[in-house]
Amino acid sequence: MDSQELLSLCRRRGFLWPAYDIYGGFAGFYDYGPLGAALKSNIEEHWRRLYVHEEGFQELVCPLIAPEPVFEASGHLDAFADMYVECEGCGETHRADHLAAGMHDNPASLSEEELGKLLGDNGVKCPSCGGALTPPRRFNLMFKTPVGAGSAKPGYLRPETAQGMFVNFSQVYRYGREKLPVGAVQIGRAFRNEISPRQGLLRLREFSLMEAEVFFHPERKTWPRYDRVKDEKLPLLPDGGSVGEMSLSDAVGKGVIANEALAYFIWLTLRFASEIGLDRRRVRFRQHARDEMAHYASDCWDFEAETGYGWVELVGVADRGCYDVQAHLRHSGADLTAFEPFDEPREATEEVVRPRFDVMGKLFKGRTKAIAEELSKLSPEEVRGTEEVGVVVGDEVFKVPSSCFEVASATRKVAGEKFVPHVIEPAYGVDRILYCLLEHAYRKDGDYVTLSLKGSVAPIKAGVFPLMARDGLDGVAMEIRETLAVAGIAAYFDDAGSIGRRYARMDEVGTPCCVTIDYQTKEDGTVTLRDRDTKEQKRVEGERVAAAVAEAVARSSPAASGGGM
Ligand code: GLY
Repeated sequence: MDSQELLSLCRRRGFLWPAYDIYGGFAGFYDYGPLGAALKSNIEEHWRRLYVHEEGFQELVCPLIAPEPVFEASGHLDAFADMYVECEGCGETHRADHLAAGMHDNPASLSEEELGKLLGDNGVKCPSCGGALTPPRRFNLMFKTPVGAGSAKPGYLRPETAQGMFVNFSQVYRYGREKLPVGAVQIGRAFRNEISPRQGLLRLREFSLMEAEVFFHPERKTWPRYDRVKDEKLPLLPDGGSVGEMSLSDAVGKGVIANEALAYFIWLTLRFASEIGLDRRRVRFRQHARDEMAHYASDCWDFEAETGYGWVELVGVADRGCYDVQAHLRHSGADLTAFEPFDEPREATEEVVRPRFDVMGKLFKGRTKAIAEELSKLSPEEVRGTEEVGVVVGDEVFKVPSSCFEVASATRKVAGEKFVPHVIEPAYGVDRILYCLLEHAYRKDGDYVTLSLKGSVAPIKAGVFPLMARDGLDGVAMEIRETLAVAGIAAYFDDAGSIGRRYARMDEVGTPCCVTIDYQTKEDGTVTLRDRDTKEQKRVEGERVAAAVAEAVARSSPAASGGGM
């Protein structure tokens, strides 16, 4: 299909507008018009239904700006960078690895020098003007902003929503009654200062994410609902392999997918995609190559959809191991561990610092007990090899010679184990999903365009038309629009032009059904209900109109979606 035709429809009909257009636009930023905003919110609502209501994850809303230590810990300050080249002629900047596409398997994994040599050896020039290019330079993709006046501390617009959930692990764990697995989600904006944003909604500088961070015991990465779906099939493209359909249990059994939890969230992604109307025959899961993975991931599968721009990543499902929680634990000093009790308390042998009261008594007399108590709190590492240690009791410091203590083995009862949880993360790019949904729903028959959107996500559920804008038909139509609105059904009143033109306007924006009020309505109270996909028309009782529209919305599905999963 022609992506330009779709983008022009989106602009004309109020799905998408280039941001700040009257000032010449602002690359990498888009406005959603009324239909786009409704479609986006319906996609997010469906995701919330699966992740928050069905899976029971805790929804959080964290700030968009975070202080520098968060991104020092997460690794974004060091590692979240792309390489760019600048044209010495026209001054335009380009992603250096994109210019090397087809010259290397993964140009982004090269150093600045290696990539510069590759581009030079291949005679790459500026794609806009043919000018010479600077050597590649690395560029951190986070937007930095001072927070507060004067010698303000730096803050960063979040490049993902994930960190807000990692830093809140202890709260999420406590709210979840200290049981694993437990998950948190966020739906919200994220920001990346992309070097050359292009392709409409596919590469934005400000975009929306729906992310879940699911915390696991490191050796128990499974999910309670896995068994229900383990025989379902997934379209998988493993690293170094070819695309094939495989059940979840086969994929886990053969080691293609690392664990049951990862397989479950891959499946849940496919379920979500099918339910909102992406074409099952034009999607796949592609496993990342080792040198392609983000700095935090140990295994990652991209959910990709086929579009006019090629295969596009919509969702990443990654096993982030203990990377993030461990990093925040180290940097903040907060105890971000989980605790699991043993069935029975176990005996554990460990080394302790044991005071020698006989020696201490002679030196410290009446203070012996208090000093010994503090001494025994030290770890063997703190005292090993020292001639004396300083022990603080109240305001006093006592120098305690090594003859006053020994490092000895002691057994104690241990109730359970403390550990740093592992994380599996499904991360969905809302804007990309929305764009692909429009592409997969776009049908053209001659000049007639239909967006075959599923009823659940369609921005308008029903068009409401008086046959004529007179004789009281328009008044009845307005009442019906209001009845639908009160029943929670987004309906659109239109009395302009022929009925055929009005149907066409609704088909073009994906409205699943239309209600027409005509002269027969005045006689017997019935209205005409017309279905977008079948074009079938039938008469329904006026009192049943809300129920009939709700049924039509539930029935509507893209004609070419290939059915369920
Ligand atoms: N949190 C996943 C991502 O940033 O892509």
